[in-house]
Amino acid sequence: MSKFRAAITGIQAYAPDYILTNQELENMVDTTDEWITTRTGIKERHIQKGKGLGTSDMAVKAVEGLLEKTGTSPDDIDLVICATVTPDMLFPATANIICDKAGIKNAFSFDLNAACSGFIYALITANKFIESGSHKKVLVIGADKMSSIVDYTDRQTCIIFGDAAGAVLLEPSTDDNGIIDSILRTDGSGRVHLHQKAGGSVKPPSYETIDAKEHFVFQEGQAVFKFAVINMADISVEIMEKNGLKSEDIAWLVPHQANLRIIEATARRMGLEREKVMINIPRYGNTTNGTIPMCLYEWEDQLKKGDNLILAAFGGGFTWGSIYLKWAYDGKK
Ligand code: UT7
Repeated sequence: MSKFRAAITGIQAYAPDYILTNQELENMVDTTDEWITTRTGIKERHIQKGKGLGTSDMAVKAVEGLLEKTGTSPDDIDLVICATVTPDMLFPATANIICDKAGIKNAFSFDLNAACSGFIYALITANKFIESGSHKKVLVIGADKMSSIVDYTDRQTCIIFGDAAGAVLLEPSTDDNGIIDSILRTDGSGRVHLHQKAGGSVKPPSYETIDAKEHFVFQEGQAVFKFAVINMADISVEIMEKNGLKSEDIAWLVPHQANLRIIEATARRMGLEREKVMINIPRYGNTTNGTIPMCLYEWEDQLKKGDNLILAAFGGGFTWGSIYLKWAYDGKK
């Protein structure tokens, strides 16, 4: 066993005020509230409005709230990892911009891109720095302004995504609670089904790429669904078996919120009743890297020290994974 185990010691999240409802989408594209609800479970999503605002602005709200509620000085943070697919700019890293805006001056920081699995990849990356003993206070952020890469004339994608940010503080655990185990996977051949075609080094921005709408999310929904529903359930069951966990041992499943049907299939395979599954997709849609910290934040007051949590995600790449952790503090009402 490693000398230091990392534990989440605080959580904060932020979603912008503007709410885009299914009814409003009915006026924008050929869709219905009934179709969106039955196929995805989504009723509304939050959208960041306002010129000049980006992913870092949402993340900073979460970070500032987190530092305040945990009584942490920005000077004491020694590492910041931001998981995002919608960075403020291609470079420098959004994590650097967040540090600047939040007054974090003694840290090193970087972005991590693993699409919808980014937050759990970042959590495990941060965990290694704590385990090694080299870092003591690490911020892990999951943030995305998906509205900046969504085509609001494409009914197949615009109904799914929303904007949000969440941040956790990771510190060395003082007891046996914290991150116990993880399984992370990648299959790059899946990139054909979910990607953004232009804007990178293979296809830099041009008038042609803009005319062809290649700076938006491209998704073959059904193909992604098939991989997601199998792999997210498999990897959640795998981590339970690896750690000798039965369904009654698990207090909460914290799943990536991509589609209510994927979440329900995962919970079924794990033998969990719905009461043990964090589900807020009806109110936020798929906020990519924001989904898991948004759930932890909204359920924080129900979490108890020692609770067994399984975090699970599947996303573009393909990337997927699961984390088994023991919650480290009693959430306050
Ligand atoms: O988070 C990262 C990973 N992403 C995911 O996990 C997403 C996985 N995929 C999904 O969640 C689902 O595939 C979607 C929600 C994207 C789509 O649901 P679906 O049940 O797979 O629908 P579909 O793409 O098979 O489309 C069924 C029909 C099609 O019409 P036809 O060809 O049967 O006549 C679509 O054109 O529904 C049509 N359709 C719509 N109709 C009304 C597609 N989008 C819409 C819409 N409103 N918004």
